[in-house]
Amino acid sequence: MKKRIFLVINIIIIYIISSITVMGENNVDFYSRDNPYYVLVNKQNALGKEYKPKDLMIPNVRFLEKGVLEKKFMQRTAASHLETMFNSAAKDNIHLVALSGYRSYQRQNTIYNSNLKKYGQAYTDSVSAKPGHSEHQTGLAMDISAKSAGYSLTQRFGLTKEGKWLADNAHHYGYIIRYQKGKEHITGYTYEPWHIRYVGKELASYLYINKLTLEEAEPYFIQAELIQKNTNKSTMPDEVNNQKEDTEEMSSSMQQITSSIFLDERAKSVDSQ
Ligand code: DAL
Ligand code: ZN
Repeated sequence: MKKRIFLVINIIIIYIISSITVMGENNVDFYSRDNPYYVLVNKQNALGKEYKPKDLMIPNVRFLEKGVLEKKFMQRTAASHLETMFNSAAKDNIHLVALSGYRSYQRQNTIYNSNLKKYGQAYTDSVSAKPGHSEHQTGLAMDISAKSAGYSLTQRFGLTKEGKWLADNAHHYGYIIRYQKGKEHITGYTYEPWHIRYVGKELASYLYINKLTLEEAEPYFIQAELIQKNTNKSTMPDEVNNQKEDTEEMSSSMQQITSSIFLDERAKSVDSQ
């Protein structure tokens, strides 16, 4: 009898602890949304300290800085779509420049703490993610600028022809402007016309057309799931199906967290955003 009471008390304690965890910060599961490119990393959802995409590469696009730097890397699929986008932009006489992509947990920690010292808590939290909470750690985000915006990460970029081109065309290449004007109360960050995030062409187009941000994507997932249930096979758009093929690779990348060799880890104020 005593044993049974002890067991029941234990179960209750475990339940209470797990409920508290759910109510607080969530740990990101790349599969929570059925597709690794839909991963939601924000103020409520964090990546583990050790998470690092396995398939990182440097996209063949114009960068502001020279050399092999950690910040030049991106997840392979995102990198390839970034290349296509830069090439298409150039055909429209739009010359984009890449500034900052993948960032490790440690690097985000350095950036966040440096901002904290310079600007204080409130401002820092409106422009800079705490370590584990930055999309840059997914390898799916890139900060972009142009000569007309002084190659810097400034809201002025949104007013330039390059910034406008990016806002109007990024979805064709699977990217969204992640932190939009007017959505600050949802994303938790001020407007960042320079920060693009790869989610795949279908979801990016859905969010663009409906003027939604990633936090508001739930109807898309519900719709996609319903289509699947009704037909008993995936009738999701090609892009999403193609991405599903990549899912296994992303899965193993979660387990095989390797330490990578970056030749140059110099801290630059330019990626303080
Ligand atoms: N500036 C964005 C929110 C980041 O720090 O990831
Ligand atoms: Zn960014």
